[in-house]
Amino acid sequence: MTGAARQFFILALCYAVAGMVLGIVMAASHDHGEMPTHAHIMVAGWVMSSIFAFFYHLFPAIGASRLARAHFWVQSVSGIVLVVSLFFLLQGNDQIEAITALASFGFLIGMLMFVWNALPVLKAG
Ligand code: HEM
Ligand code: HEM
Repeated sequence: MTGAARQFFILALCYAVAGMVLGIVMAASHDHGEMPTHAHIMVAGWVMSSIFAFFYHLFPAIGASRLARAHFWVQSVSGIVLVVSLFFLLQGNDQIEAITALASFGFLIGMLMFVWNALPVLKAG
């Protein structure tokens, strides 16, 4: 794996480990207050990053492009800020909500960049 594929797969593995550790802590403590954080780390983190990784692996020319690299940075920075700030928000730090909201928009912009990068594949038929 090279380029954005490799970057996304490394990110996916980090999300998987972090999300599972949080899941085990939640289960062991019988405190499921961080369920939305765990759910987003696992699905928006581990699963989505894996899908991006395999897409860019399947289409290496797109994966090596500047646009794919840009997509990685927007999606990863916003995603990490999203789940970390969500964790602290759910711990009762209400003042962090604006950062979570901003990161959500960053995450959406990342997704739109992926749609743009994936379009040539659809056009090629
Ligand atoms: C070490 C493995 C895992 C542990 C210990 C764990 C633990 C938990 C716990 C305790 C909850 C809260 C359940 C509740 O309050 O109803 C939960 C929810 C959830 N988990 Fe995990 N989990 C693990 C792995 C995963 C994986 C691999 C995924 C997805 C790829 C995942 C996705 C979710 C989702 C989406 C929810 C929210 C479910 C809902 O909305 O009802 N989890 N998990
Ligand atoms: C722009 C980014 C996103 C925002 C702002 C967002 C927001 C939310 C909100 C407000 C909830 C309800 C939480 C609750 O009731 O406590 C939720 C639940 C959930 N979201 Fe997202 N979401 C985003 C992206 C995603 C993505 C990309 C995925 C999956 C690929 C996803 C998967 C889920 C799942 C599985 C749940 C149910 C888990 C739970 O109830 O805690 N979300 N999301």
